[in-house]
Amino acid sequence: MEQSSLEATVDKVLVQKWIAEIGSDAPAAVPLLQAVQNEYGYLPREAMNIIVSETDISASQLFGVATFYSQFRLDPVGRFIIKVCHGTACHVSGADRINTALRQSLGIKDEKEDTARNGSYTIEDVACIGCCSLAPVMLIGDETFGNLKGADAQRSLKKHARQHGEFLPGHEEKRSEADAPEKKSPGKKKKEML
Ligand code: FES
Repeated sequence: MEQSSLEATVDKVLVQKWIAEIGSDAPAAVPLLQAVQNEYGYLPREAMNIIVSETDISASQLFGVATFYSQFRLDPVGRFIIKVCHGTACHVSGADRINTALRQSLGIKDEKEDTARNGSYTIEDVACIGCCSLAPVMLIGDETFGNLKGADAQRSLKKHARQHGEFLPGHEEKRSEADAPEKKSPGKKKKEML
């Protein structure tokens, strides 16, 4: 998968340090995976392999735990996470349209993917984040944006990207189309010559 370019470089010594501190038997699987995810934002395959080869935890045990708990991610994440609320109030107020607009700005076309190819942003669907009166709501990092329409979400993302020096692949594609010089129709030219 092309997303492998976003894979983190794993520090083997660091993983060995966690194993020494946390333990190397089955009950250590969850805290070890939490340590890995806290460091890299997801569970790089390389870190999982180190844990399997240097502990008594089998590959099936470790991958079983990693896939059982929703807190764990097996795919790389972007430098910023956008959390789109899909609780009831946000869902009925158009949360899906927020996802569609953000995916457009980020140029994410494959519905199985949630991270922009340039590693800038990851879109994550979350349950109610407790500010239903502002529905639909999204968070970029720690910042909350509410009462959104698709275009508002795109504008907020654009502003955030500008502030943090990030590039929005989908947005630029759209802008370059929009910025193309207007073609004069032959009919219009004729009129000008009269
Ligand atoms: S349902 Fe979205 S904030 Fe509560």
